[in-house]
Amino acid sequence: THTIIFDTDPGVDDAQAIALIMAHPEIEVLGLTTTFGNVRVETATRNALLLTELAGQTIPVAQGADYPLVKTPHPVPAHIHGADGLGNQTLDAPSGQAHELSAAQFIVEKTRERPGEITLMAVGPLGNLAMAIALDPDVVNRVKQVVIMGGSAARGGNVTPLAEANIFSDPHAAKRVLTADWPLVMVGLDVTLDTVITPDRMARIAEGQGELGKVLSQSYDFYADFYRSAIGLDGCCPHDSCAVAWLIHPEFFETVTGHLDVVTEGTAEGQTIFAPAERQYVSDRWSQTPAVQVCMKVDGEAVSSWIEKTLT
Ligand code: BDR
Ligand code: CA
Repeated sequence: THTIIFDTDPGVDDAQAIALIMAHPEIEVLGLTTTFGNVRVETATRNALLLTELAGQTIPVAQGADYPLVKTPHPVPAHIHGADGLGNQTLDAPSGQAHELSAAQFIVEKTRERPGEITLMAVGPLGNLAMAIALDPDVVNRVKQVVIMGGSAARGGNVTPLAEANIFSDPHAAKRVLTADWPLVMVGLDVTLDTVITPDRMARIAEGQGELGKVLSQSYDFYADFYRSAIGLDGCCPHDSCAVAWLIHPEFFETVTGHLDVVTEGTAEGQTIFAPAERQYVSDRWSQTPAVQVCMKVDGEAVSSWIEKTLT
């Protein structure tokens, strides 16, 4: 069993990933922690609560970062995820409330209770993880591993030609998290752009998910309109679900060990720079950052059929 804390900014693809972690028998979810990103953090918290309630589950939701650490926040991408993060649906308010601890405190506390056991999964901007390190630097020694959806090693960006959305939203936080000394896996655009959920696959998923399925499918339709107009794709890339797929089926992916850094300012702001360990560089700065694993290739069909199987 994988015991996880899931840090998220739901968000259409986040919502599907949340459905996956709730459905998978080998995943124990200690809590969801929320951040700004696809929506403001209050909306992210509301969506996280709502999604757990629609699935009939009681999972703590701890609210976190409402702004980037340093940069000026950019407007929420309402044309991609809807103003509500779920493709503009009319939904009742959740009945539950956010946890009394903040997201970063929640991460610090839970890893104190269960040192070495918890996988931190982060599929939004990385402020909560950065703040957890700031609150208690020893947290890096207590997590089992960190799996993030974000960044791009060789594929370019989706917000700018170089930057992926989660990293671009808070590059200073990302730099702290991606260069911290904990075992980290980056599941970025290099693999998520090669994974597609087609409309017919989504229809079968929706049928398998009851009340939650209706919300997932309506949000998918909105997200699919964006993919169609932006890149002419008939389907959506399930970015955040790919990180969950890695946790359960790392064999679907090819990873390369190396070192990461993040550009925090200027034209390349939000770019992740990946230096594979097998390459020799004249500058030794790269070998001084901790080693990470970066997903470079994926069997996209295996991932999307596993998503369907898990949700039906
Ligand atoms: C990432 O950005 C967000 O819009 C998605 O939820 C995903 O986490 C993809 O770049
Ligand atoms: Ca996300």
